[in-house]
Amino acid sequence: MKKAEGYRPISIPEDRLDEFFDVVQWAFVGEWLREDRQDYVDALPVERARALEVTDARRGRVGEVAAVHASFGTEMVVPGGRTVPTAGLSWLGVHPAHRRRGLMTRMIHDHFERSLARGEAVSVLYAMEAPIYARFGYGMGSQTVKAEIPRGAKMWAVDGADDLTVRLERASFDAHDALVSGLQARLDRPGTVINAVGSGRNARFTDPVGNRRGMEKWRLAIVEDAGGPVAYAFFRRHARSSVGIHDGVCQVREHGSMSPAASQRLWETLTDFDLVETTMTENLATDDPLLHQLKDPRGVRSKVIDNLWVRLLDVPTALEAREYLHDCDVAIELADKHVPGNAGTWRVRVSGGDARVTRTDDAPDLSMDIRHLSQCYLGGTSLEALVRAGLVREHTPGQARELAIAMMSPVAPLANWDF
Ligand SMILES: CC(C)(COP(=O)(O)OP(=O)(O)OC[C@H]1O[C@@H](n2cnc3c(N)ncnc32)[C@H](O)[C@@H]1OP(=O)(O)O)[C@@H](O)C(=O)NCCC(=O)NCCS
Repeated sequence: MKKAEGYRPISIPEDRLDEFFDVVQWAFVGEWLREDRQDYVDALPVERARALEVTDARRGRVGEVAAVHASFGTEMVVPGGRTVPTAGLSWLGVHPAHRRRGLMTRMIHDHFERSLARGEAVSVLYAMEAPIYARFGYGMGSQTVKAEIPRGAKMWAVDGADDLTVRLERASFDAHDALVSGLQARLDRPGTVINAVGSGRNARFTDPVGNRRGMEKWRLAIVEDAGGPVAYAFFRRHARSSVGIHDGVCQVREHGSMSPAASQRLWETLTDFDLVETTMTENLATDDPLLHQLKDPRGVRSKVIDNLWVRLLDVPTALEAREYLHDCDVAIELADKHVPGNAGTWRVRVSGGDARVTRTDDAPDLSMDIRHLSQCYLGGTSLEALVRAGLVREHTPGQARELAIAMMSPVAPLANWDF
């Protein structure tokens, strides 16, 4: 492992934010517009912004910021509907002049230590490139369906959908934060990340001009019944036409529905705008109601990709936070190179839906790396599948199935807000 010598970790004060942002632009390949700066400040949890600064002139200019990261302090929904204190790692980038010297590795260790000190039992992230994070103990905890839905796609009728009303408005923090936060707090899908705020404002409402690529400002579709809002979606459109044919697109970002009827009313609206031929979304759970409501599933062009990467930082706290579907008693031997406190053998006893997790000297029933347990945590991957893939070792026949059944979630996990 490379050591990242000649650098030191620091917190980024407000007056050094531009140095932080400069590294982000270098790392993520882009030049921001000056007018967008406040949006980026709003989207950044400034009090949790960290960096590596050069201390050795052989590495660069002493005092310059070479690499950055930050994290959102949040609660994540786990199977059963409870939540666990979670750190959402984000903004991680290394200036290209300093890459492959171990700086990411050092920052991840910094992130793990600080998250644990704050009592955050799990770390989650979205990966720009999927092969990067398994080495640090992250497992692909959920998958998402990227879909392109043709205009006017037919759906099976759902009772009550026609009785709901829809409002379409320009998304605004002042007008809609309470509405969106209120609905989001009612979502019970594992992987839902609640209340990830930037510097005091809800980062979901940021809308940099430079990111629009010809699209409108973000808009909000709000579905209501007599009692108030029951579904919402952020969306924006782009009008296109060639040889006289209008083939505009609608992009849907975060969305949430409180009932089958609300989901149907929402998607009927989002897939039937004039001058728009295709509605695209990257945020559908693999069991999203829409996928079952569509009459012609093959009419949707889709692809399944990784969604949330999950890393258990405090194994007993994380495992005890979620609910289980099946009683079992299994000893798990865990390898964890990056958080040694997790390594060793743990007994997981599940009774009546709750787990007690304690250290044991007993021989293990199963052996695995922390990334495999992390991958199964939200209930989207079966532990038995990982045994069949040759990644988890089963010493006591049948015990992988016992734990697999206990850990499965009847609802597929998904984080539908990309942080
Ligand atoms: C990805 C990035 C953060 C890596 O930073 P870095 O300081 O060069 O990484 P490290 O030197 O600590 O590398 C650690 C290990 O990860 C591997 N690695 C780094 N980047 C990788 C990538 N893009 N794909 C696959 N492996 C990668 C390294 O080869 C190294 O492997 P090793 O331990 O077997 O030698 C950096 O290249 C970057 O900022 N890229 C652009 C922005 C980005 O993608 N950020 C991640 C956002 S999710």
